[in-house]
Amino acid sequence: MFRRMAIGIVAAATMIPLLASAQSPARPTSGQKVVLITGATSGLGREVAVRLAAGGAHVIAHGRDTSRGREVVDEITKAGKGSARFYAADLSSNADIRRFATAILADYQRLDVLVNNAGIGTVPAEREVTKEGIESRMQVNYLSGVLLTRLLLPRLLSSAPSRVVNVSSLSASPINFDDVMMEQGFSGGRAYGQSKLSQVMFTIDLAAELEGKGVTVNALHPATMMPTGMVLRTGRPARSTIDEGARAVLHLIQDAGVGTGQFYVGETLGRANAQAYDVDARARLKRLSEQLVGIR
Ligand SMILES: NC(=O)c1ccc[n+]([C@@H]2O[C@H](COP(=O)([O-])OP(=O)(O)OC[C@H]3O[C@@H](n4cnc5c(N)ncnc54)[C@H](OP(=O)(O)O)[C@@H]3O)[C@@H](O)[C@H]2O)c1
Repeated sequence: MFRRMAIGIVAAATMIPLLASAQSPARPTSGQKVVLITGATSGLGREVAVRLAAGGAHVIAHGRDTSRGREVVDEITKAGKGSARFYAADLSSNADIRRFATAILADYQRLDVLVNNAGIGTVPAEREVTKEGIESRMQVNYLSGVLLTRLLLPRLLSSAPSRVVNVSSLSASPINFDDVMMEQGFSGGRAYGQSKLSQVMFTIDLAAELEGKGVTVNALHPATMMPTGMVLRTGRPARSTIDEGARAVLHLIQDAGVGTGQFYVGETLGRANAQAYDVDARARLKRLSEQLVGIR
């Protein structure tokens, strides 16, 4: 797919202090694939960023932690293949996501792949709510991807063929529409699970909406219990490697035969929780999500 992509020209950088500050002057060169990865400061996202750059891509690395963001960019720059810039944005804030997207649209005339990877795991066990009153895992793991994808869609469409990859999980569990903000009987595992299933539901709907427009949308469970930040915080032992997860994400980014609207387990086609295939549940989630992030 890399070779088939048209050539892009990058506009002058727009610096938005603090929220979306690109610390590296790197720009994509003619014909270089541009990939945005959220949560590229740690774990899976970081590994995918480094590997994509090693394959020659320009990586827009996102995260919150500016010093770790700079480290990723430095590592990529020192390796001498590909290039990267870091943007900081807090995905728990819809205002911050909007500023981030505005910066990307101003700085990049091309976007070949968006990987919605950033997330909060099952720890902490306590319920947390964003400033906008949304349960945190639902916001960071799912709603942020909805808003960011919608805002960046014009660039993905004009760069087609392009791809959206949503990093979900097999830990997905059904949404209780009577208590989506999980005010009763909260558990970190259930909050994580409902946010992850929501990503799959979003994937199926968006893929159908974009059918024939050159933008494919897929979700995946990368690997089980990789030794990343969110897993290490649980105190439980790892059961797979970051290498396995990174290969699964790269498969969805690069392989010609992955299709669209699918849920992969590793590099194999899989099946998500039954609620993901319930048309009414997806319509309900879509309405609620658009209301929560303030889009039509
Ligand atoms: N690890 C596994 O075994 C496993 C299994 C299935 C699925 N997954 C999925 O893989 C993805 C990557 O997770 P990981 O395992 O690599 O975990 P990780 O090492 O903890 O990385 C999480 C990333 O998300 C970012 N992030 C968290 N909260 C954020 C916020 N409010 N705003 C912006 N960025 C935020 C972090 O950025 P900062 O550090 O800069 O804050 C970090 O880069 C997640 O979607 C996860 O659900 C992981």
